[in-house]
Amino acid sequence: MDASDTDPITADVLARFAATPDPRLRELMAALIRHLHGFARETKLTEAEWFEAIRFLTAVGQKCDATRQEFILLSDTLGLSMVVTDLNAARPPGCTEPTVLGPFHVADAPRLALGADIAAGAPGEPCWVQGRVLGLDGEPVGGAELDVWQADAEGLYDVQRPALAHAQGRARLRADAKGGFCFWTVVAQAYPVPSDGPVGRMLAATGRHPWRPPHLHFMIAAPGFDRLITHVFRRGGEYLDSDAVFGVRPSLVADWIRHEPGVAPDGSRRDTPYWSLDFDFVLNRAPC
Ligand code: BEZ
Ligand code: FE
Repeated sequence: MDASDTDPITADVLARFAATPDPRLRELMAALIRHLHGFARETKLTEAEWFEAIRFLTAVGQKCDATRQEFILLSDTLGLSMVVTDLNAARPPGCTEPTVLGPFHVADAPRLALGADIAAGAPGEPCWVQGRVLGLDGEPVGGAELDVWQADAEGLYDVQRPALAHAQGRARLRADAKGGFCFWTVVAQAYPVPSDGPVGRMLAATGRHPWRPPHLHFMIAAPGFDRLITHVFRRGGEYLDSDAVFGVRPSLVADWIRHEPGVAPDGSRRDTPYWSLDFDFVLNRAPC
């Protein structure tokens, strides 16, 4: 028996929600009340602390606008986004693991041809990315759509550069008939999540840093398969052990290789050092 069964306030509130017509909403509200009341009791929450929490949540809401979602950032930095991702990630072993979406995905990134340079002028050392989209039996997922996005060498996404008139470091690409994909970009570097708002103050007050390890975002969709939202992380990159949003999965850490100037995998001649990444994605078949 926990306090919610015996405390008259909690029991009264739970009873008031007991007639919620939608059963799932009823379940969610009852659990929320039990945990919220339990949290206040366990910590002996003072009125001053409760009011500070209200001020904090108000500031989180006030920081949100069309391009800044401070509530998602709060969820990410509390690890809640990753718990939800994990809860909904049930798929057979062998499939690529998902991770957080993050706030920098843009729905209508430019459609580019395989082999294109998606950096479009973003600062950073060039990086050739190639791989295949496969099903669990190794079958190619021809024509899969890949949405790719990343921060540049200065740790910024294009949407964080208001003066920029075109997309940088993002594109939609269609895999070939064998599930193959390839593109040029710039090598991903570690960068901090936005920390100039209330979530940044929460991180500072709790002695946490805002950094994410170097990664490339992918959203991959194909008819008959579950959509996959994931990252590929750079092995050896900083903050792999302390990602501010808890998104690292060992299976998503890959070798990004630095090459001296020479002939790149696409046959082009590179006069400066460049990187390469080779990564295959395995999708789960959607239930019929
Ligand atoms: C990102 O990787 O883009 C990201 C994810 C969560 C919070 C902030 C940024
Ligand atoms: Fe990111």
